[in-house]
Amino acid sequence: MTTIVGGIGTSHVPAVGAAIDNGKQDEPYWRPYFDKIQPAREWMAAEQPDVCIIVYNDHASAFSLRLIPTFALGVAAEFQPADEGYGPRQVPAAQGHPELAWHLAESLIGDEFDITIVNEMDVDHGLTVPLSVMYGEPSVWPCRVIPICVNVIQYPPPSGKRCLSLGRAIRRALDSYQGSDADGLRVAVFGTGGMSHQLQGERAGLVNVDFDTAFMDELIAEPDAGCLRPHTEYIREAGSEGIELVMWFVMRGVLDDEVDEVFRMNHVPTSNTSNGLLILQNARAA
Ligand code: DHB
Ligand code: FE
Repeated sequence: MTTIVGGIGTSHVPAVGAAIDNGKQDEPYWRPYFDKIQPAREWMAAEQPDVCIIVYNDHASAFSLRLIPTFALGVAAEFQPADEGYGPRQVPAAQGHPELAWHLAESLIGDEFDITIVNEMDVDHGLTVPLSVMYGEPSVWPCRVIPICVNVIQYPPPSGKRCLSLGRAIRRALDSYQGSDADGLRVAVFGTGGMSHQLQGERAGLVNVDFDTAFMDELIAEPDAGCLRPHTEYIREAGSEGIELVMWFVMRGVLDDEVDEVFRMNHVPTSNTSNGLLILQNARAA
């Protein structure tokens, strides 16, 4: 059986990727952020997941308005960094895990989660920045990656409740995996996006740390209540892009009902976003 090493909730701010890629971590604007995330990187280095399931949203890089899957699963052997208009990030390609990904597809669809299967897809900052946040700048990513895309770009996005249910269905799939490397396979799951931010319009730059803190508290302790928050509340309280936070419920659903908070930080400013990072682990038996 697989081992769930933990769940990671993290913003995926493109400027963080650019700061790393351009060697700006020691500049006064960036140093406080990178200092704060150092314990999370140490946790990741100690836990050494073999596979990271990264739940993120494609920002019209691989998909466009021509095709908008609500939930999509990458089953490829490799995912190249996407060109988002200024050339692809100079980060390693993500190596996939087709055997586990196809098991996820079979299990999810058998479980009435009719996910879109993606054989070929470039991955944008939504996926590559969280890897950089957790791993820094290795020459190859130290884990295999299974991307799961959630549409939060084009209305209507899925509900938080549906995202929590998807996470629970992914957990059932992980628990039933019997592939060639299943014994002791160490899996981490990322929910990315958020926290409060609005990139456009009159409220551009909106940050609501009180909301972000309450969101994290509820995600940990009362996910079945927190997931019922309507989309209008995300927009009102967390800005138009705050809806990305529903993806954290997929991560939460993979974990047990009882979890321990291993690490939490919130940092402002990084670009326009309240930048959050949360690590949860299944609660240890007392
Ligand atoms: C920013 C945040 C995002 O989540 C995103 O997709 C693009 C930009 C930002 O804060 O600049
Ligand atoms: Fe985003």
